[in-house]
Amino acid sequence: MATAAQPRGGARPAGASGLNRVLMHAAAKPAVFMLCLLPFAWLLYGAVADRLGANPAEYLLRATGDWALRFLCIVLAVTPLRVMAKLTALARWRRMLGLFAYFYVVVHLLCYSWFDMGFDLPSIVADIPKRPFILVGFAAFVLLTLLAATSFNRAIRALGGKRWQRLHRLVYLCAGLGLLHFFWMRAGKNNFGEVGIYAVIIALLLGWRVWHALAARRRAALQ
Ligand code: HEM
Repeated sequence: MATAAQPRGGARPAGASGLNRVLMHAAAKPAVFMLCLLPFAWLLYGAVADRLGANPAEYLLRATGDWALRFLCIVLAVTPLRVMAKLTALARWRRMLGLFAYFYVVVHLLCYSWFDMGFDLPSIVADIPKRPFILVGFAAFVLLTLLAATSFNRAIRALGGKRWQRLHRLVYLCAGLGLLHFFWMRAGKNNFGEVGIYAVIIALLLGWRVWHALAARRRAALQ
């Protein structure tokens, strides 16, 4: 997960534009933290107030899946935004945003384990390999667990910056697996509208990353 601030992300915001100054304000990070918790709080309120429609369990399972995928897209958007809009201050939020993506995946998994499987571990273990779309979602969860576990400064130091960066590029694979999971689930219903929107967003973000890496390599070769 491009979650932890990359070592080079620690640089002070160049030029400290107005927006960078706002983003660097002491209150900005807690405000973003609260904003990220808002979907969870809203779902919790909906569940307690019985406002989630006729099938609250299905609503919670699907909404947490949606938020997991949205947060993965947000994490992937941090670097392009940081570079293109020169919002260097965004680097300090990447770890928090990545951990929120993981948080929503864990809540999603808990919803599945509770509402679909009644927390019956043997049934869960049997169900995961049986249904390909669940298997793909679970693979994304396992990878994200690895990234979340290595998103802290001590892990960055232990792995070394380069190796850590290479490992955390797996966040693209996680987003791809999450998308495939969503596609597979909706394929049964022949309903691809939303899946298409996420596919375009993820393809654009990945495309930018590849283009940016190739441009950097070309610049280095010219020097
Ligand atoms: C990165 C990991 C994951 C992402 C991004 C993700 C995302 C999603 C999304 C977007 C949906 C559809 C929501 C909708 O219809 O609006 C969904 C549904 C679902 N996901 Fe996941 N998911 C992930 C991991 C998992 C895991 C680990 C499991 C269980 C082991 C799981 C089980 C399910 C189930 C059972 C559904 C609902 C299927 C249905 O209602 O027919 N997902 N997920």
